Amino acid sequence: MAVRPRRLPSAIRSAAALRRLALASVIANVVIVVTGGAVRLTDSGLGCPTWPRCTDASLTPTRAYAAHGVIEFANRQLTFVLVIVAVLTWMSAMARREQRGLATAALLGIPAQAVLGGLTVLTHLNPWLVAGHFLLSMALLAVTFTLWERTRPRTRAGVPSPPALALAWATTAVAAAVLVAGTVVTGSGPHAGDLNASGRVHRTGLDVQSMAQLHADLVMILVGLSVGLVALLTAVRASRAVRRAAGVLLAVELAQGAVGYAQYFLHVPPLLVALHMLGACAVWLAALAVLSEMTPSQQRAERVDQQPRQRADDRAVDPDELQVAPHL
Ligand code: HEM
Repeated sequence: MAVRPRRLPSAIRSAAALRRLALASVIANVVIVVTGGAVRLTDSGLGCPTWPRCTDASLTPTRAYAAHGVIEFANRQLTFVLVIVAVLTWMSAMARREQRGLATAALLGIPAQAVLGGLTVLTHLNPWLVAGHFLLSMALLAVTFTLWERTRPRTRAGVPSPPALALAWATTAVAAAVLVAGTVVTGSGPHAGDLNASGRVHRTGLDVQSMAQLHADLVMILVGLSVGLVALLTAVRASRAVRRAAGVLLAVELAQGAVGYAQYFLHVPPLLVALHMLGACAVWLAALAVLSEMTPSQQRAERVDQQPRQRADDRAVDPDELQVAPHL
């Protein structure tokens, strides 16, 4: 479905607007991960004990649930910000006939996430659903980040070498495995969720120490692969941008690893856990950035192909396109 460009203000339909909206989507997804963590860490997950209403009798938090209700309710409201940004991004992508698949996926991910979040509340924070909720956010982060990357006006040096690209994919796959293992550690540890009806915290039932060991072992593999990637990229004289992205990934992993060990030995203080969640987003984005730097961009070629077919009014609102094409 195409949204008529003329009906949309230029603040939404220009290339720069799509790029900004895509970036806003990335930021909104990171913010909601961290605020979602604040809900869990302050034991506010059932501050609104039902869904989609806050309580059976009220749409908003009641005094009975005090600060927990406000924290959980505020997190739910952030979803609306996410929705507004995603809808505007989708409209912009449709109007420009650009990155429509990614913009649609980013939009559809929100109702999916809302339903999963609702089921999490209704099952009294089943740890596997809490994990799924976090991992779906990581998937949405990947979608919105890719959308943003593809709308950025810059040239990419392309694939430095097939082995380096394979290593970058392997590194990203292990980073994803680290995220999954991390959510299992959380689900097995003290911050898994709230008390259930029988007064016990919902947990996976797995041994938290073994899970933390598995998580840390995967991190070792991740760091090893990243060191290898930096070395290989240097050896094949990859572009500066690619080498810098790989260096940033390694640095973020090391910082996140340090936070991970600190929180483990300090018995998971909530503030460090929240920082660790932010760090998890940073590692994931850094891994995606390496891949993105190494993937040749089809998009600019597509844009230039489409130009003759575009209507005059499309081009008139699209000055960025003219700036991008000469870089090819
Ligand atoms: C690249 C490095 C790392 C990444 C990307 C990462 C990622 C994650 C993620 C995504 C979670 C789950 C967050 C949640 O569900 O709320 C987590 C939890 C956890 N991680 Fe890591 N982690 C890393 C390194 C480490 C290291 C080296 C340790 C040391 C043992 C560690 C210890 C923990 C612990 C103890 C938890 C559970 C915290 C809780 O109870 O909520 N992490 N990690």
